[in-house]
Amino acid sequence: MYVETTSAPARKPVTVPGLGAMKAEGRKIVMLTAYDASFAAQLETAGVDVALVGDSLGMVVQGRSSTLPVTVDDMVYHTAAVARGLAATLLVADLPFMSDRDVPAAMAAATRLVAEGGAAMVKIEGAGRICEVIAALAERDIPVCGHLGLTPQSVNKFGGYKVQGKTDAAAEKLFADAQAVEAAGADLLVLECVPSALAARITQALTIPVIGIGAGVGCDGQVLVVYDMLGLTPGKRPKFSKDFLAGQGSIPSAIRAYADDVRAGAFPGPEHSFS
Ligand code: KIV
Repeated sequence: MYVETTSAPARKPVTVPGLGAMKAEGRKIVMLTAYDASFAAQLETAGVDVALVGDSLGMVVQGRSSTLPVTVDDMVYHTAAVARGLAATLLVADLPFMSDRDVPAAMAAATRLVAEGGAAMVKIEGAGRICEVIAALAERDIPVCGHLGLTPQSVNKFGGYKVQGKTDAAAEKLFADAQAVEAAGADLLVLECVPSALAARITQALTIPVIGIGAGVGCDGQVLVVYDMLGLTPGKRPKFSKDFLAGQGSIPSAIRAYADDVRAGAFPGPEHSFS
């Protein structure tokens, strides 16, 4: 049974400006998904910097074939549960499919994730018209994490979960999109399934921290889906993930091993990356 703890945090809370300072100091940012209080407490104990309540919960928790059916209610429920397990770890929550369709809708969804869920930051997929939404949220002091590359909410447009930015034209578009997301006011950016060299180029060009997943070791930090890195997700493990439970023997040690490897620049290796 999960027992809510009232003990004081043992480490300094991770803040949004603090993430920028980590990039400036060359300290890698460790991010991992969580969907409930028990896993959140494990992230907290392992010293993970950022917990992401991803809409990947639609797939790994709800057993759906994509993230598209996830609702704002689902996200608020899981975000509030995760918040109860955290103390110092920064909490980021996804804006689910179409909750970002216009500024009022995104503002309403983000308000719920922050006020009811306890998120410190919301994550939003895409650029283009999404930059207007990012700017509106940023103007209201709601910190925003952008998400570019393989954006799972666009799976039908992409025709599957495929590496993005592989051609010269696609790489230039992705680079320009990343700059636009930063210019719109985002504080953090996730790059998913992008060739390592392109991700490193974007990371160097941006002031805000860039977190990779399948984007190589040249990013400012890494994120994985917690069930993937524990080998719990049914089916074939994605190339960009690694089973950290194998050889560790316990979930706390596996999460610590992931955090250690990210901080040391030992994960991801070339075998978890795309060229
Ligand atoms: O939903 C999610 O878990 C995510 C990560 C894979 C970055 O967006």
